Amino acid sequence: MKYRNIVILTGAGISAESGLGTFRGSGGLWEDHRVEDVATPEAFQRDPGLVHRFYNARRRNLGKVKPNAAHIALARLQTGHPGSVILITQNVDDLHERAGSGTLLHMHGELLRARCRACADVFDWPEDMDDGTPCPSCAAMPALRPHIVWFGEMPFHMEEIDAALLETDLFISIGTSGSVYPAAGYVAQIHALGRAHSVELNLEPSEGQSLFAERRYGPATEVVPDYVEEILGGAA
Ligand code: APR
Repeated sequence: MKYRNIVILTGAGISAESGLGTFRGSGGLWEDHRVEDVATPEAFQRDPGLVHRFYNARRRNLGKVKPNAAHIALARLQTGHPGSVILITQNVDDLHERAGSGTLLHMHGELLRARCRACADVFDWPEDMDDGTPCPSCAAMPALRPHIVWFGEMPFHMEEIDAALLETDLFISIGTSGSVYPAAGYVAQIHALGRAHSVELNLEPSEGQSLFAERRYGPATEVVPDYVEEILGGAA
């Protein structure tokens, strides 16, 4: 086995061929909204209805899409690799889970969960959400919000991720533009540590591309399964 501990970071590009839009590259708008209007705590305070409608639409859309060959290849790597494979995703969709991925850290939260602003409990939430639903734990209302990390908020699982980056000997970044921190800085951390091989699999060079030791460009459904087969076959 060439690599014992593998860490993989995914972004919106891995879900693009499943039919979910990426964030950048479409005029800077998310589904026709400015980021500041739907993805900040201030936006939620100002207009909770708009923010709930935005995430309700995205949550409903999950029912219309399914995992693609790239998600499935990563799940195959997780079961077939004799060492550890930690998957970190910036995506809030559930396509990695549906493809069968086990160890998975949703650093930007999950569309299918809700959090109570009063008691901080987190719930599975497959339905629409609005300000008229009491918290199932403490009954506070209005209190529910999407369990999503908005701009200006601290991503989840930071300690676990830092520990994984220290231990890894192969870091793979897939489908991310490398423009949102802290995830955008992981390749620099890997580079500075100097102990892991790093690979970028993306449609086009990302902002951090020069820090990767290896780069392969093309659609995720092609480059990811090919690379996974190389790892499992001992060639990569
Ligand atoms: N295959 C591989 N890569 C693709 C594909 C594809 N089919 N389609 C697009 N890409 C690439 C794009 O070239 C781009 O580099 O995926 C990347 C997507 O970048 P972004 O839209 O910026 O998404 P991401 O990097 O995940 O954004 C990070 O920013 O907006 C916040 O919280 C949000 O998690 C998100 C974070």
